[in-house]
Amino acid sequence: MCGIVGYIGSRTAYPIIIKGLQRLEYRGYDSAGIAINDNEIKVYKCKGKVRDLELLTKQKPIGGTVGMGHTRWATHGAPNDCNAHPHRSMHGKFVIIHNGIIENYDHLKKQLAKKGYTFESETDTEVLANLIENFYLDKKVDAETAVKLALTKVIGAYGLVVMCADEPDKLIGCRKGSPLVLGIGEGEYFLASDSTPIIEYTDKMVYLNDEEVVVVTREGIKLTNLKDEIQKLVVTQVDANIDNIDKGQFEHFMLKEIHEQPTSIYDTFRGRISLDKRHIHLGGIADVMPRLAQAKRIIIVACGTSYHAGLVGEYLFEEFARISVEVEYASEFRYRNPIITPDDVIIAISQSGETADTLAAIRMAKQQGALILGICNVAGSSIPRETHAGIYTHAGIEIGVASTKAFTAQVVALTMMAFSLAKKRNMISDERYAALINGLVDVPSKIEEILLNEKAIKAIATEYKNATNAIYLGRGYLYPVALEGALKLKEISYIHAEGYPAAEMKHGPIALIDQNMPVFVLATKDKYYEKVVNNIQEVKARNGKVIAIVSEGDDTIAHMADQVIEVPDCDEALMPLLAVVPLQIISYYIAVMRGCNVDQPRNLAKSVTVE
Ligand code: G6P
Repeated sequence: MCGIVGYIGSRTAYPIIIKGLQRLEYRGYDSAGIAINDNEIKVYKCKGKVRDLELLTKQKPIGGTVGMGHTRWATHGAPNDCNAHPHRSMHGKFVIIHNGIIENYDHLKKQLAKKGYTFESETDTEVLANLIENFYLDKKVDAETAVKLALTKVIGAYGLVVMCADEPDKLIGCRKGSPLVLGIGEGEYFLASDSTPIIEYTDKMVYLNDEEVVVVTREGIKLTNLKDEIQKLVVTQVDANIDNIDKGQFEHFMLKEIHEQPTSIYDTFRGRISLDKRHIHLGGIADVMPRLAQAKRIIIVACGTSYHAGLVGEYLFEEFARISVEVEYASEFRYRNPIITPDDVIIAISQSGETADTLAAIRMAKQQGALILGICNVAGSSIPRETHAGIYTHAGIEIGVASTKAFTAQVVALTMMAFSLAKKRNMISDERYAALINGLVDVPSKIEEILLNEKAIKAIATEYKNATNAIYLGRGYLYPVALEGALKLKEISYIHAEGYPAAEMKHGPIALIDQNMPVFVLATKDKYYEKVVNNIQEVKARNGKVIAIVSEGDDTIAHMADQVIEVPDCDEALMPLLAVVPLQIISYYIAVMRGCNVDQPRNLAKSVTVE
């Protein structure tokens, strides 16, 4: 949530910052703003998107080679011009941008008010700007010290960049809870919430740790912690593909990312499956495999789409590895005082690796002695750095707020884990193991086949674009896919949609079914097939509209359903990877036809770094 970017070097900062904000807009798009040292620190900000900020600044020549920008996902205060970042302190000494939440801001605000401070905005960030200034003026210290003193008083999360009017050729960055990356170029430096605004300039990044403070000038970098102790600068070479941050031939990132799935799935198993397709080697968890194989219980924690991937993982681990699994919303798990023992293994699933609740959940479980594993997409992000071991999904940068390729990559990682754990625990024959691996290797080409059918799937979307509600039904491995299909539709098209285990329909949702209710049924040929066919009959008997995802050549359902979408056959354990794709495409086209902003749906953000 919220994207921050800073630049210091010899180039004009404005275009670099604007472009950086565009890259980060998926983190929030309620308002945008910049601060540039152009003889003095000038601030421009407004409600709306980065393009609104561009319009605002169009007529104003903005020079300067030091600056920073912010794109906001509102927490404290409405999304308006005044609450937009950057925020300037009352006496004009400091300008700051912030991602996170200052939880004790009200208390700090009252203390500052007693000292005569007044506030223009409703934000917690303005309080922090004034707190820094108050230390600076009262204690007569330099900007860096004032920032550190202020941060010792703060409870909450922050990724912060600070500029000081008296030390204008300097950026001060710090983080706790929210991410901050430093990019090291040739005589220039970048600060950002993640690597996306930086990778076209440099691949050398430093991921700041909690409570670290970096002072960046053109002459160099100084990294310390809040206690003023010098910290080691760990430079990571980031291997990111710049193509991932452009839409290419596609109208939206979401469509591009749907189409990238054959590649992203292949990239996720590439190098992990042997050439003879008989073995899986997961290097990232090889050392902990013996402990994982002994686990009494696996607890998967995640949020949003990653939670749905976790549910697929539950079916996989229980069926193949015969280890009991619980899947938990990270936000509930962390506050529930759960029972965790050293025999438990926690798997955190997170595309961004920064989701605040998931991060807090693993910290809590770590303290109780569990083995903590991660399945994350963003290399170097917080969750992989705090887990004992893990698997990176190699889906590439995902920009569309509605997750697509990250979901299938997470399911691939879980599938490989479950199969190899089954092997390690002797729960599976060599033949079955090899057959499943071969099935997984075939998934990318099968998704390509589904994508060839895009036009027909789009035509189905046209039929239902005016729906106000929708139900998604699935059983077994396809129940999580029903949940994911419903989430995709509601988050980008704003149609109310719910996913259910198909058999649960009779316990409530069936009351909603009439001729206006589209019911998406996942009905491929698996062990539940006959039962799902019965569920379809029940919907049809009440005049509901049935759109069924079926196995190739299924005549039975073709005669009952209003529309069918065929997917190639595969082992039922792999079917989530195929069946989800038509649902992604339907949601995409329905949202486009309704005129919705597909890549940046209202009120949402991709990386939820506040709880
Ligand atoms: C937000 C995003 C979702 C994502 C969820 C969890 O809600 O909009 O697409 O699934 O966060 O994010 P994570 O990065 O932890 O997978």
